[in-house]
Amino acid sequence: MAIEETETQVILSHPSDSSTNVTILKYGATVFSWKLYGQEQLWLSTAAKLDGSKPVRGGIPLVFPVFGKNESDPLLSKLPQHGLARNSTWEFLGQVKSNPPTVQFGLNPKLSNPEMTKLWSEDFNLILTVELGSDYLKTEIEVENLSSSKELKFNWLFHTYLKIPDIEDTMISNLVGMKLYDQLLKESFVDKHPCVTFHGEKDVIYQNVEADRVIQVVNQGKPVHTVKRVNLPDSVVWNPWIEKSGGMGDFEPKTGYKEMVCVEPGHVHDFVVLSPGEKWTAAQILSKDELKYQAIQ
Ligand code: BG6
Repeated sequence: MAIEETETQVILSHPSDSSTNVTILKYGATVFSWKLYGQEQLWLSTAAKLDGSKPVRGGIPLVFPVFGKNESDPLLSKLPQHGLARNSTWEFLGQVKSNPPTVQFGLNPKLSNPEMTKLWSEDFNLILTVELGSDYLKTEIEVENLSSSKELKFNWLFHTYLKIPDIEDTMISNLVGMKLYDQLLKESFVDKHPCVTFHGEKDVIYQNVEADRVIQVVNQGKPVHTVKRVNLPDSVVWNPWIEKSGGMGDFEPKTGYKEMVCVEPGHVHDFVVLSPGEKWTAAQILSKDELKYQAIQ
């Protein structure tokens, strides 16, 4: 069967090859496994909680309505780091297509974690569409402002944990020449390195990355992941390295930082602002494409 629903999760298998499949936890509508021809593409901590007691450490947690911990916005600063979507149980809305298998999940203030809506009481509707292609995984979000009088202001981000063979042999291409904000140095500058490499903790936000720039994760010269973005101008690149992952109780094994990198397409440098009744959509498409180096424009 192409789509299987249990009490806590939904599994889609591709009709042409059932070893290509995706598993989505209703809690957070978190994709926590995506296998392409039997090979896992996403990193998941062996200590990740899949019981709804905390956001999943791995897979693709959803970040809404705030990225990180906002310190200044009168409404959003009340919410915990990365907002309420990843720690609320979404409603499974069902299947919308059988090939490629496509399903939807919904979240609104009534379904959201009440601890969070006490802190941020805006009126919104989210629809996440997960489409399993034979050689790609597309996650698309629609945000609607349900208020008839107030603007809705938010960040969105797909917090994608990609599985890689070894961080020290890994680079990320096609971000050269982009402006970034380094969250560790608390500084903005233009990245002049020909590619992103990893020698320690990294936590940077590439801003306004041109829409047609294809971000690729390359291991020992081979492209292992391709990340395409629709309507998501920013991209966070994160690896916690030894000390930071050592301090995270749900990050296991402790050597796991070697086998993951987060490439997180989002709209986080500034907010999306929707007028009453307005909708916004954006998507991430993960695949394994040929290597494509793009020149600086
Ligand atoms: C990244 C942030 O998106 O998420 C990092 O850039 C943060 O600063 C990381 O440490 C993990 O966040 P959390 O809340 O899942 O531990």
